[in-house]
This record gives sequence, C-alpha cells and structure tokens, in this order.
Amino acid sequence: MALILAIESSCDETAASVVRDGRDVLSNVISTQIETHKKFGGVVPEVASRKHLEAINPVIDQALSDAGVSKEELDYIAVTYAPGLIGALLVGVSAAKALSLALDIPLIPVHHIRGHICANFIEHPNLEPPFVCLVASGGHSHIVYVKDYTEFEVLGQTRDDAAGEAFDKVARVLGLGYPGGPKIDSLSKEGNENAVWFKKVKFGGDSLDFSFSGIKTAVINYCHNAEQHGEEINKADVAASFQKSVCEVMVDNLLEAAQRKGCKKICLAGGVACNSRLRKELEARKGENEIFYPSPIFCTDNAAMIGCSAYYESLASNFADLSLNATAYLEIDFK
Ligand code: KG4
Ligand code: ZN
Repeated sequence: MALILAIESSCDETAASVVRDGRDVLSNVISTQIETHKKFGGVVPEVASRKHLEAINPVIDQALSDAGVSKEELDYIAVTYAPGLIGALLVGVSAAKALSLALDIPLIPVHHIRGHICANFIEHPNLEPPFVCLVASGGHSHIVYVKDYTEFEVLGQTRDDAAGEAFDKVARVLGLGYPGGPKIDSLSKEGNENAVWFKKVKFGGDSLDFSFSGIKTAVINYCHNAEQHGEEINKADVAASFQKSVCEVMVDNLLEAAQRKGCKKICLAGGVACNSRLRKELEARKGENEIFYPSPIFCTDNAAMIGCSAYYESLASNFADLSLNATAYLEIDFK
C-alpha cells in the first residue's frame, strides 16, 4: 500500500490531498484565492505566492486530519513542480522538500498537466491508458495521446491563448468578472448560441492545433463596434455564441485525434472540462467512442490529481532529490 501526501500550488489554489494507491482519495483540501484576485480581474503572481505561504501549512494539516492519517504513516510526498507561476510553485516545492527531509521519505515531482489528465482515474476505476485527452485550462490547451500512465504524445496544442484564458478574457470584456469560464457557462444558458457568428480557427494540413486569440479579438471588436454605434449587446447571446464556437473546434480536433490514433476512449481534463456545453457537444458527437471526464472539483486545480499522477510516477521510479526546483515551463512529454 502506498500513502501519498500531494501538494499543489501552481496558480491560485493551495491544495493538499492524501491519496492511497493512486486512485483512492482520502482527503482533498483546496484553499482558493479567487476572492483576492477577483478585484484585479486575474491572478497577480506576487500576491499568489504570498497567499500560498499563508495557506500551505494549515492546508497540509487539514488534509492529513481529514484523511485520519499521521505524517509518520505517509510513504511519499508528491508536489507539482512544473509548469506554473514560479513563485507559487516554489511554495509547494519548498514545503514538500521539507517534509520529505524531515520524514525521510521519497519525493515525487509531478507535472501539473499530467496531474490534470490523471484526475480521470480517480472516479473511473477501470479507466486505463491508452486514450486521447483534451486538457484545457487557464494556461494550457493540449490534445494528448496518453500512451501509458507516464508516457504522453502531444497531438495538438494552442498556438496562442489557452481556452480558459479566452473564456476569462471574453468574460472580462462582457463585464462578468473572474474567473470567466463558469460565468460564461451559466450566462450562455439564457442566450441564443446562433445569434452571432464567430469563426472557428482551423489550421491547414494535418494540424490539430488551436488558436483562441482570434475569436477573443472578434468578441472584443463586436462589443466595441456595438458601443460605437450606441447599440446595446445581448451579453447572453454573445457569451453563448463564443462558447459554441470554442467548444465545437475543441471537439472537432479531439474526435479527429481519436480517429487518427484508432482510439475509442476519450477524456477531458482541466478547468474548461467543467464546461457544460463542451460536455454536451462531445456526448452528442461521440459515436462509438467512450467518454470520460472528472467531476468539476477534480477538473479545476486540486492536489488529489497530483497524488494520482505521483503514484504512477513512483511506479516508473521517477523520484527527485532535495535539489528539485520549480520550473515555469515544461512540456508534458519531457524526457
Ligand atoms: O485547471 P484550472 O483550474 O487552472 C489552470 O491550470 O489553469 O483551470 C482554470 C480555468 C479558468 O480559465 C476558468 O475560467 C476555466 O478553467 N473554467 C471554465 C469553467 N470552469 C472553469 N471554463 C469554461 N467553462 C467552465 N464551466
Ligand atoms: Zn491546472
């Protein structure tokens, strides 16, 4: 049996979780900084680091106490070390190294995006690789072929903004607040998604890449044009039309990727995987494919997914020593 204490602090959530044997989540504590960053319309990195410092020890203590596990019973410490905001990551990495040293147990470094993908294993005990996964979050939009638990091939990725970033920016333009994804998701339910046509960006040839900055600019231009003409926009219609275009292009490329790989299992991951329109689009067009996605609490940043990924990294003997450092950018298929 392997008991892992996992720590996540790559962006604006300080999180800790105790996970048994990779898929059994004994506790999942998340301290969010959303209220703090809301007034700035987005995450302020330096403020995030300070908030992580305040929260990290209480969050770890809470995760242990919720799980009914003492520090001495732990077998491993796991931590997100890349990619993310460097100052934010450093808080988690330092705490994890201190615990690993004090308890004299191995340290497992976890890639944040691998963690998001592994969130799918938590509630689907029979799910195993290979499968194709769309990881769409505030910082990343990738289509990944998950060959094995620690082996990944990127089939497509955004060439500019991440999907979540586009949701957040469009929400800002519409005056909906931060984070924008959930606000656009719920407002869209009151709108007509065919009211405004926003072009889907597709690259030529075999590319499964995305571009979301064009559609974001198109929404901004649409709003500014209306303003200049003294016309009032229907925010729900704009939100729904934007969301439809983004979700359709993500599902187009995801289904194409699965077909190319001859793979009938498709997963969603990352904060944008919470999106109800995205799930609906994929369910409607899935054909013979089997679809998996985590509950919303495991889609957005959490440490349970890090504990899950860490378990499989440990089976592959991917450990770190105390020289482990935080890394802001790192491809998911790093060697
Ligand atoms: O995975 P995550 O918690 O953090 C990162 O690693 O970035 O993702 C956060 C992103 C934000 O951009 C947020 O607006 C988006 O996920 N998001 C959503 C929804 N819920 C969260 N986007 C669209 N629809 C949602 N329901
Ligand atoms: Zn994330």
